[in-house]
Formats: sequence, structure tokens, C-alpha cells
Amino acid sequence: MKEVTIQGKTFEVYLSAEEIAELTSTLAAQLNEAYGNFKLDVILISILDGSFIFMADLVRKLTFPHQIHFVKIRSYQDTESTGEVEYVLDVDADVSDKHVVVVEDIIDTGLTIESFVDKLNKSNPLSVKICTLLSKPEVHNDIVDIDFVGKEIPAEFVIGYGLDLNGYGRNLPDIYKLKV
Ligand code: IMP
Repeated sequence: MKEVTIQGKTFEVYLSAEEIAELTSTLAAQLNEAYGNFKLDVILISILDGSFIFMADLVRKLTFPHQIHFVKIRSYQDTESTGEVEYVLDVDADVSDKHVVVVEDIIDTGLTIESFVDKLNKSNPLSVKICTLLSKPEVHNDIVDIDFVGKEIPAEFVIGYGLDLNGYGRNLPDIYKLKV
């Protein structure tokens, strides 16, 4: 079993780069199906930092016209959610009368995405949908209506493929889970 140690914590491989690529392709196909015939503009907004690799892989598989924007929201410290959301980089796109897809790496408590979708809805978009690579339903108890999910995972801390532990481990091509 492949293992890595980051900041004194040991992680074992959980999803291989090949499995992640399959999840990304499936999500892209679902988005292509959902937005392929839209006449109006579609805006994809990626939540930094964690989703930068997922977003880059996802958009290269999309076949409908869209614009790409980024926001940076902070809510995590160490391996726990702080319970508070801070906008480090705010959205600069005009989303009124546009279809919006929010792209997340992982939905844990759901606090980040819920707060961001509430904020977006104040600017009168035509629709807002959520696309996430990973989701932890045991943690958020389905409080958020997620439209496109790559994979549901147990309430475990994961790193790699953009996901970090205190800024480290984002470059790993596979996704690893904390070894207990
Ligand atoms: P939420 O607000 O609790 O849903 O957390 C969302 C953000 O927390 C994600 O965008 C990640 O940046 C971070 N996060 C949540 N779970 C994990 C994890 O298992 N590993 C690394 N980061 C995580």
C-alpha cells in the first residue's frame, strides 16, 4: 500500500490517479449533457485553493461554451473545519441572468458551499448548481443539495489532487486518506 508522511501524519492511498480521472470524465459528461444545449452563458466558479487541479482537468473535458472564475474561501485549519467562512478572494464575475456552476474539490460540513451559494443567489443568477469531486454525506447530512457528485466518501480526512494538510500535499497525483 502506497503511503506518504506529511507534517508528521501518515496517509495511505485511497483513490488512484486513474480512478480520479474516471470520476472527472463522468462529471464532465454529466455537465456536457446538462449544459450542452443552453443558449445562455454558463459561468463556472471554482473555489480555491483545493479545487485548482480538479477544475483544470474538468474544464478541458467540457464541450459547451463557458467562462471560468475563481473565489478563495478559507474555512479549514489543520484537519478540522473552523466553522467560519472567510472570503480571501471574492467573486468578480457578473452572475446576474447567467447559469452558474460552482466547482468544489470536497464538501465536508457544507458550510463553505452553503454560504457561497447564498451569496451568489443575492445577485440574481438564472440558476446555481454544485459540482464536487468528493462529498462526505455523513458529515453534512445532505443539508446541501449537490447536483453533480464524483464520489461519496466516509468522514475521513483526505489529501492530494489539490487537497491539502496545512498547505502541503496538494501536488500528489493520487488521493490519500489519513491512516488511523
Ligand atoms: P466544508 O465547508 O466543511 O464543506 O469544507 C469545505 C472545504 O474544506 C473544502 O473546500 C476543503 O478545502 C476543506 N476540506 C474539507 N474536507 C477536507 C479533507 O478531507 N481534506 C482536505 N481539505 C478538506
